[in-house]
Amino acid sequence: MASELHEIGKEFYLLRSGEKFLHRNIYIKRFVGTHGESVNMLMDPGTAVDYPVLSKTLKELIGGIKNVHAIFLSHQDPDVSSNIMAILASAPKAVILASEDTWRLISMYGIPEKRFKSVESFKFDVLRIKKTGHYIQFIPAKYCHFVGATMFYDFESKVIFTGDFLGGVDTREGSGIYADEESWEGISLFHQIYMPSKKALQIAVDKIGLLSKTPEVIAPQHGDVIKGELVYDFLSRIASLDVGLDAAEWEEDKLSTLMVALNGFLDMIKNLYPDIHQGLISSLSKSQEFTPSIRVSGDTIVQIKILPQDAIYHFWKELVNVSDEDTLSELRGLFASSLSNFGIESPDFIIKESGTTENDSEESFIA
Ligand SMILES: [Fe+2]
Ligand SMILES: [Fe+2]
Repeated sequence: MASELHEIGKEFYLLRSGEKFLHRNIYIKRFVGTHGESVNMLMDPGTAVDYPVLSKTLKELIGGIKNVHAIFLSHQDPDVSSNIMAILASAPKAVILASEDTWRLISMYGIPEKRFKSVESFKFDVLRIKKTGHYIQFIPAKYCHFVGATMFYDFESKVIFTGDFLGGVDTREGSGIYADEESWEGISLFHQIYMPSKKALQIAVDKIGLLSKTPEVIAPQHGDVIKGELVYDFLSRIASLDVGLDAAEWEEDKLSTLMVALNGFLDMIKNLYPDIHQGLISSLSKSQEFTPSIRVSGDTIVQIKILPQDAIYHFWKELVNVSDEDTLSELRGLFASSLSNFGIESPDFIIKESGTTENDSEESFIA
């Protein structure tokens, strides 16, 4: 079996692409009946780049692409569906399962209509797979981020495949596929940029809450797989996150002010700490590989696309990465005063050194 393959629930497999920062997650579910009969389903099969490894994996797992019976597409984006014609060509039995809104767009690939079955035709009810006796359900994730976005729930493994909803960019240190607290930053970033409004997120969370069996694992198309206590935790956090229009409407003034404050700070350190200034500008520019959350032109910040508190955190993290400890303690005050010049309160992580409590500082002073 290919090493990239992870079983995240009973017969529910994840094949993760190797990029840094924004992974594509392809999933395969094998429904195996009591007499060994099987139905194989592929979810969001990815791009031409993914095809060779997907093909090899399917050969080892189910005897080849030819044994794929269904391909579920959460929506139509190229990272999800652009290898679909190649897969259909090698999988003569396979039918595409997707929403009608998704079909309207993916049909442009030239897919014959007879190879498509709409999820609306199942009325979003619990379905029984005749051949194997398993139960499944399609669930709308309207406007997360596409009007016809759809999720898929497998009752056997209790894994819910959520497409882009609950996906994230990679902010967790280390290897592995499961989310921890560090993953939240990437999920929050991804949703602020791609999701249109909190209302859409809340509706999708409510739909998951209405399932007759609570999912134990959330399997998104990007980022980390969420399981255990984080399932409930991340679902409740995402339902109160300001994203897209929520943030854009009322944060615009705050963002402009923050941009002036950050540029003021950059100007200040340009002469005082030229190496750090250069390092910071280049790391801010590098972190734009996915999509610029803080966009830099020359040595000036020209756009901030995330919430002000997240932008401060992101900026500070980059500054920590390019500074040594002594310089950082000097920069701490300069940064806090650059913010306070514009009436912006400094978060705790800037004022207090990490891992230092008031008592600790007192003790070291006395010592
Ligand atoms: Fe998408
Ligand atoms: Fe995506």
